[in-house]
Amino acid sequence: MSGSKKLFVKTYGCQMNVYDSERILETMQAAGYEKTDNVDDASMILLNTCHIREKAAEKVYSELGRFKSLKQVKPNLKIAVAGCVAQAEGEEIIRRQPLVDMVVGPQNYHKLAELEVIVENSGRTVNIDFPKENKFNGLGSRSKSQRAPSAFLTVQEGCDKFCSFCVVPYTRGAEFSRPVSRVVSEANELVERGVREITLLGQNVNAYHGEGPGGAEYSLAALIWELAKIERLHRIRFTTNHPNDMGDELIEAFRNCKKLMPYLHLPVQSGSDRILKRMNRSHTAQSYVDLIKKIRGVRPDILISGDFIVGFPEETNADFEATLDLIRSVNYGQAYSFKYSTRPGTPAAERDQLPEKVKTQRLEKLQALLSRQQRAAQDKMLGRRVSVLFEKLGRFDGQLVGKSEYLHAVHVDAPFSKIGQIQKVLITSVNRNSLGGRLCSENIVE
Ligand code: SAH
Ligand code: SF4
Ligand code: F3S
Repeated sequence: MSGSKKLFVKTYGCQMNVYDSERILETMQAAGYEKTDNVDDASMILLNTCHIREKAAEKVYSELGRFKSLKQVKPNLKIAVAGCVAQAEGEEIIRRQPLVDMVVGPQNYHKLAELEVIVENSGRTVNIDFPKENKFNGLGSRSKSQRAPSAFLTVQEGCDKFCSFCVVPYTRGAEFSRPVSRVVSEANELVERGVREITLLGQNVNAYHGEGPGGAEYSLAALIWELAKIERLHRIRFTTNHPNDMGDELIEAFRNCKKLMPYLHLPVQSGSDRILKRMNRSHTAQSYVDLIKKIRGVRPDILISGDFIVGFPEETNADFEATLDLIRSVNYGQAYSFKYSTRPGTPAAERDQLPEKVKTQRLEKLQALLSRQQRAAQDKMLGRRVSVLFEKLGRFDGQLVGKSEYLHAVHVDAPFSKIGQIQKVLITSVNRNSLGGRLCSENIVE
């Protein structure tokens, strides 16, 4: 057994937390830690948490409780809570859960090794400041090890939109865009490690406005064009988006930029203008539907995905029906839907709440409609040729799994050597959450 310290990380929430967890591991590796997937082996356990809905936050406390016996056996074990629950609850976590040694917010995780020293010297510590110096400047280059073909890259973080239901502006802070040169050099590092597809991340990634060469401000579209110059980077995606920031230049990129994949996650939340106003969303149902039309005009095959909240305070049956109407007129290929969850400190938490039963009934109805649409979008793929980037081994011998350009998971019998390559695949079957296919003969090898 090696004597080095071992870090176990568990990640909750959105893709940005997945990216952050990778960065935390890399930072801690530089500080002498090794990654472990076995919690019993760990000298530090870190939970990278999500505060978006009540259930997500409560999960953290029940998970923490489970480490009690482990800490009894290993008194030197450090337990850290990072991410959005850390930011939102701060000191409260230390009060509520005596097992926790460190609480560190999303803007401070690069200082985790320093915090550990503080814990050693002076006991339990909380760091949830929003420092002036951006954390990205404190993060080193990406780890040298070979990577899976698809990776996330945060280019924008935080949000100034303050939708009345949402904690993100409080947990992630003000909107910030990383400079183009930093994004491009990180993308190059990823590509050198074997990455062929990058998903650019931001809470409102389409609001990206980073400093470009010569001090010019770059939009997300300009950034995409810059990244498209990287030869061995074959695919670019971005998520998540706000309808108000979906500018023409970005829409045009779906027509002209071959590396930009035909998939767009564009949350609408509700189809009722009255509710959208109460949500502080500053777009209407019609403006959203028009926007989708415009995007499809440019890229007819694009797969549209969305987010929905049902049972927002004061939502009437007519409001809910308007959401169903919007869904019918957009026709989604993928969707995520949630019951409204009151979040302390947000404006909507103060309003009259709907009974749980109503929320449940509406969610069931909405999800039934969305899954019919999703299923139809999958069925449409049958008999079509798609491009698949193979990512890993499948469940069965000789099988690989990859993603189509539309982000469908595709299972194919193919040799291991195809991992990291993009191949033409004929879709021959449609399963519940994935597609099956076979390699076409005229395959492009990278
Ligand atoms: N920036 C993105 C959303 C990030 S949060 C946007 O503007 O759309 C991801 C999703 O969680 C949201 O789209 C919303 O559908 C859901 N969500 C956020 N707060 C919620 C709450 N209080 N209750 C239920 N769902 C919520
Ligand atoms: Fe939350 Fe998105 Fe609204 Fe920002 S734009 S407050 S992240 S839902
Ligand atoms: Fe959750 Fe924070 Fe992401 S609240 S959804 S982890 S930004």
